[in-house]
Amino acid sequence: MFVSKDLSVNEKNHLVIGKNDTVELAKEFGTPLYVIDEDLFRENCRVYKNAMDKYYGGNGLVLYANKALCSKYTCRVVKEEGLGIDVVSGGELYTAIKADFPMDKVYFHGNNKTVDEIRMAVENRVGTIIVDNIYELEKLNEIATEAGIVQNIMFRIKPGVDAHTHSFIQTGQIDSKFGVALENGEAFEICKIANEMSGVKVDGVHCHIGSQIFDIEPFNKAAQVMMDFIGDLKDKLGMEVGKLNLGGGYGIMYTENDDPVPYDEYIQHVSEVVKEAAARRNVKLPFILMEPGRSLIAPAGITLYTVGGIKDIKNVRKYVSVDGGMGDNPRYILYESEYAAAVANKAGNEPCEKVTVAGKCCESGDLLLKDVMLPEIEVGDTLAVLATGAYNYSMASNYNRIPRPAMVAVSNGEAKVVIKRETYEDLIRNDL
Ligand code: LLP
Repeated sequence: MFVSKDLSVNEKNHLVIGKNDTVELAKEFGTPLYVIDEDLFRENCRVYKNAMDKYYGGNGLVLYANKALCSKYTCRVVKEEGLGIDVVSGGELYTAIKADFPMDKVYFHGNNKTVDEIRMAVENRVGTIIVDNIYELEKLNEIATEAGIVQNIMFRIKPGVDAHTHSFIQTGQIDSKFGVALENGEAFEICKIANEMSGVKVDGVHCHIGSQIFDIEPFNKAAQVMMDFIGDLKDKLGMEVGKLNLGGGYGIMYTENDDPVPYDEYIQHVSEVVKEAAARRNVKLPFILMEPGRSLIAPAGITLYTVGGIKDIKNVRKYVSVDGGMGDNPRYILYESEYAAAVANKAGNEPCEKVTVAGKCCESGDLLLKDVMLPEIEVGDTLAVLATGAYNYSMASNYNRIPRPAMVAVSNGEAKVVIKRETYEDLIRNDL
């Protein structure tokens, strides 16, 4: 019935996440409320980690892509699970530093890192910087040389693989702002230049073809192309790069129309491709990195709202307004993304009417769900939107000066606040 296997219905007909009654959570912590099922988050980390051990002899590291949901809390969980992280800004790096995340397991991304961010990364001894372009390479070489260190780097390569997903989140093709392309020789050229530099060491190559992808094939193709590139670097430049970072992008189930591949199968398939290519090109088996974000955290999250005004516009549409919206979940307004929902206080009731769930912002496109079937819904009900763990809190805003919701993590029947609810005072803190 639900898109996440860790949701159920209790004897009060309430939706349960992990072992927690969501109606009680809404009462205790208020709404809107982000809820993370920590046990499921941890389990997802283990699925990837175990697959890396099983199919690739543990010769790799799974990185959590922090942009999906970055907080001191998520950094701590990921650290305990033995994963690394990818950070994409000074702010994400700062969060990791403050959470005592081991810096050697941090991979720093971004297509336009500022000089201050590069300096911050070098000074904090970030393990690997994924370099996007020649300007950044030169700056980094300068900063690392000044600091008297040799910085491990990878290059972000556009492998020329077309992934079938929303065009805003496709990144593997030549027409993309990220990285350097293979097909015009740019990638080869930048590796050659870096190989001569004293402040950097090319430790590996990286690609990321997009997000919310359901096929295995584009990942296999990308691995193939990247292995050939590693082979070319060895044959033509005598350069041996020991690491291959294959990015993230594995799709999850938002609604019943989505049919994701079990996460471990990606590692299984890609491992075979890499092993075969390494033998064919006569290169050492690379250390593999993967960077799942959404698939680790999205299914573990739900958002609880309280239903307010309901407008049944006869023969047009029935709008149900809730106390949150695009401020806490901008994915509908950005991508017209689809979600599944449940009426948390009547979770077992059969869906019987078509409604559109609207947020409270002054923006007509501020919807959370369009034309979905739900049980009969009334003012005061608790609505749960499912699979909101990724790219909700991390993309939230204060539009209309609406404070961002709190986040609680539940584990084994216990709930703890991991991000406090913003107050009106927080909203004006920087106003002069
Ligand atoms: N690695 C790199 C370099 C990335 O750019 C991304 C996502 C990931 C890993 C993680 O991808 P994931 O496993 O989460 O698909 N805001 C959009 C998604 C943007 C993804 C950006 N990059 C959304 O809400 O769908």
